[in-house]
This record gives sequence, C-alpha cells and structure tokens, in this order.
Amino acid sequence: MKLDIEFARAQFPAFAEPSLKGQAFFENAGGSYASRFVIDRLMRFYRTRKVQPYGPYEASRLGGAEMDEARSRLSAILGVEKDEVSFGPSTTQNTYVLAQAFRQWMQPGEAIVVTDQDHEANTGPWRRLADEGIEIRVWEIDPDTGHLDPAALEKLLDEKVRLVCFPHCSNVVGEINPVTEITAMAHAAGAFVCVDGVSYAPHGLPDVGVLGPDIYLFSAYKTYGPHQGIMVIRRALGETLPNQAHYFNAEVLYKRFTPAGPDHAQVAASAGMADYVDALAEHHGISGDATARGAGVHDLMRGQEEELLQPLLDYLRAKNGVRLLGPTDAGARAPTVAMELREPGEAVAKRLAAHGIMAGGGDFYALRALKACGMDLEKGVLRLSFTHYTSESEVNQLLEALEREL
Ligand SMILES: Cc1ncc(COP(=O)(O)O)c(C=O)c1O
Repeated sequence: MKLDIEFARAQFPAFAEPSLKGQAFFENAGGSYASRFVIDRLMRFYRTRKVQPYGPYEASRLGGAEMDEARSRLSAILGVEKDEVSFGPSTTQNTYVLAQAFRQWMQPGEAIVVTDQDHEANTGPWRRLADEGIEIRVWEIDPDTGHLDPAALEKLLDEKVRLVCFPHCSNVVGEINPVTEITAMAHAAGAFVCVDGVSYAPHGLPDVGVLGPDIYLFSAYKTYGPHQGIMVIRRALGETLPNQAHYFNAEVLYKRFTPAGPDHAQVAASAGMADYVDALAEHHGISGDATARGAGVHDLMRGQEEELLQPLLDYLRAKNGVRLLGPTDAGARAPTVAMELREPGEAVAKRLAAHGIMAGGGDFYALRALKACGMDLEKGVLRLSFTHYTSESEVNQLLEALEREL
C-alpha cells in the first residue's frame, strides 16, 4: 500500500500557509511541522480548558482527561502501559533527570556504555557520571562511515555494565541501528538499555514493547506534535531507580522522573499525535488495535520516504566534493542526510534558501560523531532531512538547487 501524500499534507496547515508557499522544508530533523490535530487541540486547550487540571469543575475535568488521553493513546501505539509514558520539557532535560537517578543508584566501579554516534543529549549527561567514579565505556563508530558495529559492543559488555545508551538512529549518520539485537545483547549482560529515538520516531512511531529497551526517548516537536520530550520508562527499571519527583509522587510511575510541573496544554495537545496516526490509518484502511494501526502507519511512512530518499542518495553519492555520512541504501537509514562539503555547511544552506530550500548547516549537537568521523567542526555539515509528507516535487526542487549550488 502506498501513502496518499495529498491526504497526509492536507493534515498540516503549514502546507496551505501562503507565506510558506514555494518553500520546501528540509530541516525536519530539527523540528517537524505540527499536524492540524495538535494545533486544534492546543488552541482548544488555551481557549476552553486553561485552568488547573484534575479539579472538580468541568473545564478542569476536561483538561485532565485530555492529558490522560495523550498518555493512554500514545502508550497504546508504542506498545507499553499507560503509566510507562511520561512527558518532560525536552529529551535533553529528560535525560539529565534520568542520569541523576542513575547517579544515585549506581556504585563506583560500575560502568555505562555510551556511543560517539549520539546527539549530545544521550551521551553528555551519562558521561558526567564519571565524577561519581562510574566507568564510562565508549562504543566507537567506524570513522569512515559513522556505523556502529554491534560486535564492537560485545567487547565492552561485562558484569560491571549497568546501562547501555545508544541512538535508534543518529541525527547526522542517519543509519537505523538494530535496537532489538543490541538490546538483547545488553540484557544478556545484565545491563539496562536507553535508546534515543528522537531521530527515528518521526519516521513512524515504533512498537517499543517489541523493540525491548528499558528507556525510549523522543521529542514530540519533531514528531508532528508540540514542544515536549516523551519518555517511555519500562516499569521494572522505573520502580528500581530512585524517585526524582516530590516524595509524595513516588508511587506514580509516570511522575517519578518528571520533577517539573507538566506543561498541561502541550501534554494534552500531544493526543493530536495519536489522532494523526489514526487519521492516516483510517484513510488507508489500516485496522486493528492501536499498536497494529501504528505499525501500519509506520510502514506507510517508511515506504514513502525510502522511495524519495534513494534518488537523493544516488545523486549525492555521485557528486564530487560531497562526503556523505551513513548508508547509501535508503532502506537502511532515515531521510536525515548529512554531508561534508568543501565549504561550511551553513554557507551552502544559506544559498539553498534562495532556491526556496529550507535546510541547515552546522554540527547539530552531534559534535562527537562528526569529530569521530574526522570532520572539521568549524565547517560543520549540510543536513537535508525530510519525512513522509515531503513531496516528489519538493525533492526535485532540492535536486535542482543542489545541482546549482554544490
Ligand atoms: C537525535 C537527537 N537526540 C536528542 C535531541 C534533543 O532533543 P530535545 O531538543 O528535545 O532536547 C535531538 C535534538 O535535535 C536529536 O536530534
């Protein structure tokens, strides 16, 4: 089955926005457009429910119910329990809170495995535990391709390792890591697993229950939603780590690692992310429970993306002066394509803007990955990232602009 892209685009007001007409968006890995469901819910909340939620009056009851709905519907798609999903201000902030919990729980001499493929959010906070006598073992990438080899992880695992952190997909390498295989290796060694799914989730929400990690993090604002960080923390780990919230909230799993008061409106609006998945499922005749509908929509999105990504990869691979990071096979990666050029990535992005291409250049907070691949951080990379809602004509517009500017 093929994605009806016109239907998908009709769910995003940005595509009908006059001021964005002719502008092709290729910085989706920085933050996606929001679907109309999310925007409508956000506006409804601010207009009609902007009161303290969970109170005995109607507006408050509706506000609280909508916040609960966001967790229950997203958890169902993600294949986990409702109280295993929690919201924080951003993935980075969520990781810092989790790292603080591990700081209290771990003993000096124990170890954490981190990668140099990750965005700083899923590596820096963990590395800081070295202050506490925790050993940090770095799972290094292949300096030529940016690939993370599971065989190299095997050598880092022993009974001292309590946690293995890695990305589902890096925001510059783009390669999809085999989460189930890596998680099984880590679990067999007695370690918990924390996966940064920020660069993967926009390409189809995964069934985290099946993938198997103990923590799965992603950012709603890159996944057609509002500016929130979403965290799956499986019960066994969540109940083991020390509570980071007010002491009287310790028994509520979804509150244990979110010490800040929630952004009520944005949590509620996140239910719109599930509305979008359901709208796509219904339109394409995908039925079954929420997890099955999510899986069907995931495959639709991936199919569409792969079809448009391959020509872009083929073009870039053949181009002189372009060093592409990650696989050149669209099936092995997300459409988040970073490349080193002869000149700074940002300078090229600026010139692409004149062709109606919205893209970015720089390090994208993946300094360790770029450095490990021998790249010049001052120069940075050009990154072109898209999603299922990107059209063939937008990709052609990009190819024409690249032909003029590279
Ligand atoms: C792969 C990846 N992980 C984590 C983050 C951090 O997410 P947040 O902005 O929600 O803190 C980003 C943001 O760009 C990212 O691309």
